[in-house]
Amino acid sequence: MSEHHGPLVLGIESSCDETGVGIVRGRTLLTNAVASSVEEHARFGGVVPEVASRAHLEAMVPTIQRACREAGVDLDEVDAIACTAGPGLASALVVGVAAAKALALALNRPIYGVNHLAGHVAVDVLEHGPLPEPLVALLVSGGHSNLLLVEDITRDVTSLGATLDDAAGEAFDKVARVLGLPYPGGPHLDRAAEGGDGAAIAFPRGLTSGRDLERYRFDYSFSGLKTAVARWVQARHDAGEQVPVADVAASFQEAVADVLTRKAVAACTEHGVQDLLIGGGVAANSRLRALAEERCAQAGIRLRVPRPGLCTDNGAMIAALGAEMVLRGREESRLDLPVDSSQPVELIQV
Ligand code: KG4
Ligand code: ZN
Repeated sequence: MSEHHGPLVLGIESSCDETGVGIVRGRTLLTNAVASSVEEHARFGGVVPEVASRAHLEAMVPTIQRACREAGVDLDEVDAIACTAGPGLASALVVGVAAAKALALALNRPIYGVNHLAGHVAVDVLEHGPLPEPLVALLVSGGHSNLLLVEDITRDVTSLGATLDDAAGEAFDKVARVLGLPYPGGPHLDRAAEGGDGAAIAFPRGLTSGRDLERYRFDYSFSGLKTAVARWVQARHDAGEQVPVADVAASFQEAVADVLTRKAVAACTEHGVQDLLIGGGVAANSRLRALAEERCAQAGIRLRVPRPGLCTDNGAMIAALGAEMVLRGREESRLDLPVDSSQPVELIQV
């Protein structure tokens, strides 16, 4: 047992292509076991729900066993079970929720069915301690791009904005594909941009001018950018010219990081919030991190970014949110809790 205090919570995440099982004691991470099916989706260039749910079925029990082994925890010591109830792929979510219900029933422990997006925020307590609430959270991954106002991570989260089309990570993956880089393209594109000039090509910044900015104050759109990059690259091909991959990657990345950070900082300023948290797989992006640091420093905003292993989908984020629920005395969920593939972000617990 750890010398730290707090409830021992096992969290299960299965909303997309990662089977995640994390164990925390209070705000201390004990283990974060993840089995990914990303390679099985690579040849399709995106996540295939049926493939993902089958992979969860195969990985679930071994991953729970591995998590317990790594944490030195016996299942019957666990105080509570948490699982992702949504949003995500329904056929993937049901596998994790069913496993969590089986554990809760067999161990006679409370279950907390929680929101995946809130998990991306809560996970930061494991790295940087209690959340400074209120805070603004920018969540950017292959499945989401959200700006949230977090008053209380266990029961009061408001959506300030979201993407109208592609998620930020999706745009990275599609542009990487146009540039001939492997799937998932985000990390490859990040590396390809290293020697490039981010100011080489002026790609569009979606929803940042005039009327758009009034109507979609904190929303994002990346499909126009993605199309602009594809057209630009195609024009080089048509002209028989070589594509300057580093410059295209850097300029695309600059456009994404610019809009994401500009709106996130504006959201903090306009809501009188002094802390910004960035989470989700795209938070690993080097340019996004650098620009966020620069702009937050200028605006007097404190920036929190969990380390990459906690930013991508994992079970520890769900365990961390479950532990917050226990610590703050929230009621447990019912054993017949449903999954909700399009669970709104305001609904933190089912
Ligand atoms: O959070 P995550 O693991 O899973 C989802 O919920 O989608 O995020 C995966 C996404 C992918 O689109 C991937 O390309 C992107 O995060 N990503 C990156 C970087 N690392 C991962 N995008 C840009 N730069 C990176 N360094
Ligand atoms: Zn996620």
